[in-house]
Amino acid sequence: HPPPRRRINPEEVVAPELTHLKSQISLLCSTNLPGLDKTSKYYLQANGKLFRPMVIFLMSRATAIAPKRQNWQHASAELEKTFNSTVAPSEILRDTNPDLALLSSRLMPVDILGPAGVSATATGGGVQVLGTQRRLAEIVELIHTATLLHDDVLDQAETRRGKPSAIALSGNKLSILAGDYMLGRASVYLARLRNPEVIELLAEVIAELVKGELFQLQNTATSAAAVDFTNKPSREAYLRDSLEYYLEKTYLKSASLISKSCRATTVLGGATEEVAAKAYVYGRHLGLAFQLVDDVLDYTSSNEQIGKPAGADLELGLATAPVLYACEEFGELGEMIERRFCLDGDVEKARALVHKSDGIDRTLALAESFCVTARQAISSFPPSEAKDGLEEVLEMVLTRKR
Ligand code: FPP
Ligand code: MG
Ligand code: MG
Repeated sequence: HPPPRRRINPEEVVAPELTHLKSQISLLCSTNLPGLDKTSKYYLQANGKLFRPMVIFLMSRATAIAPKRQNWQHASAELEKTFNSTVAPSEILRDTNPDLALLSSRLMPVDILGPAGVSATATGGGVQVLGTQRRLAEIVELIHTATLLHDDVLDQAETRRGKPSAIALSGNKLSILAGDYMLGRASVYLARLRNPEVIELLAEVIAELVKGELFQLQNTATSAAAVDFTNKPSREAYLRDSLEYYLEKTYLKSASLISKSCRATTVLGGATEEVAAKAYVYGRHLGLAFQLVDDVLDYTSSNEQIGKPAGADLELGLATAPVLYACEEFGELGEMIERRFCLDGDVEKARALVHKSDGIDRTLALAESFCVTARQAISSFPPSEAKDGLEEVLEMVLTRKR
């Protein structure tokens, strides 16, 4: 038997990094247009969980002493130099963008927290997160926040995290524009990382988030009529493929950002391709497991517990893993899934069948198996507090109640 793993709080492991992120992130999308400024900062300052930055910081530290590419130290030092420059790269940017000037004067130089994480001890003490990795975490949180602004427009959400939503506060137009603005600013800072692979990874994520949302839209009641299913396969094939479709949607909407960010953070850290590939596998399976648990909680939790209307997926016409599995046991669910639970009584009948079936257990078992894959992916990383933290995150995802 391996010795029992030390239980640690992953948030505590990277607490200094998270505090620094909180002090910096709003600056990245500061603007002298008050309405835009207020709306884009609204969710940034509303005590988000900072789940993605936490994972990025843990991954940065856990791979700081993992194998590096040749000459990475030189490349990384060069990168930090450009990155730390507060001067915009060209006259055009300098002259015409007052927001950049505003930012440059208030943004902390990244080396304020110590030099790049070159010399690190295996215990995690003294391991530094690179400035570029910190900036990546900020960029990722900006992108995530932009998707929330747009998501609330699409969902017409009145609340988020128990408070009035941005659309309730500022309306649809400002929410859309603020989301776009944040994507624009995130892109500027992404470009400033001067790493083509990292730019491509995150640009692809933005495209994938859109595709994921569209996949989901095609599966909801309100849009069923508007969906082009001209290439729709036979009903049997459609049902058989549904779990696959669902997992693809889940990757795009919920795992793409975290998985590609995990890879990006190791690329910035100069890791070998092998380490970068492992970081991606960790993030991918973490993200998928996270969403599977989310979809279970929609069936098993109360509004109060999850801070949003429970049971919403069926109401939306959305077939997630629990009902897709239940359908294998209770074939009559097939037609309900196909008509997006739109007939009177469908939602109640489907819910009852899901609870009668082993759909929820099978979904949790799948989430567990994803967490096993994620844990295996990082098993060759050298022992560290941050690695323990990454493992603990998997535990948290499986046991969370909200
Ligand atoms: C939350 O889902 C939404 C997402 C994770 C992604 C939303 C993506 C878009 C709106 C399209 C792309 C937008 C940008 C800016 C790239 P949810 O509605 O299931 O969950 P929640 O409302 O409870 O958080
Ligand atoms: Mg939503
Ligand atoms: Mg949504």
